Amino acid sequence: MRLDKLLFELGYGSRGSVKKILSARQVRVDEEIVTLGNTNVSPMIQDIYVQNKRVIYTKEAYYMLNKPIGVVTAVTDEKHQTVIDCIDGKDKKIGLYPVGRLDRDTKGLVFITNNGPLGFRMLHPKYHVSKRYEVVVNACLTQEDVIAFRNGITFLDGYTCQSASLTIIQASDTKSIALVDIHEGKFHQIKKMFLSVGKKVISLTRISFAELVLDSSLKEGEYRALTPNELQQLKKYLQ
Ligand code: URA
Repeated sequence: MRLDKLLFELGYGSRGSVKKILSARQVRVDEEIVTLGNTNVSPMIQDIYVQNKRVIYTKEAYYMLNKPIGVVTAVTDEKHQTVIDCIDGKDKKIGLYPVGRLDRDTKGLVFITNNGPLGFRMLHPKYHVSKRYEVVVNACLTQEDVIAFRNGITFLDGYTCQSASLTIIQASDTKSIALVDIHEGKFHQIKKMFLSVGKKVISLTRISFAELVLDSSLKEGEYRALTPNELQQLKKYLQ
């Protein structure tokens, strides 16, 4: 890749600042001082130094995607667009995969990374990672439902869910809106929880996953890299 692009991506300032660092002869590639930004470098093979400090180039990527309905939470799929297809070519680092999954008809936050150990740990039951969903159902939610969610819903197959918090935002005979917080991730969990209290989910949006909260400026299908602050908050899963 181009040296100026690499330094820019690594946070050595604006393109102008990178140019200045180069002209000031402060960049070395292996044993050679390089002043031209368009010099091609292979950061995984060559040693690159800025002001005598070795540049560490990682190919790690961490994105939050606002998944639209219709897109599958998979790396590849023969029939449907996948969450990885939503990532632009320039950001498509090797090994990207979605951490956890949303149904095809669910929208909202999907965390995508190529850091396998991090994703694995975030899904490990030990961490009880929390997930918040905004749910629209076809009936009137009641305080009895709130209590049933708190006590742990039992599915028809006998599985009893962990205690979950249900916060009713709006309720009428034909439609209710609520927030649900869960700490586990069974197949179709939210839909099955509502079916167990006799209600059908008509719209489901994940608005948070672990420490990550869906960025409201992301339109459906858009994604962005996690901020340093968001990354910092995920560090605990690596300890
Ligand atoms: N629960 C569901 O039923 N579907 C999802 O996509 C996520 C949680």
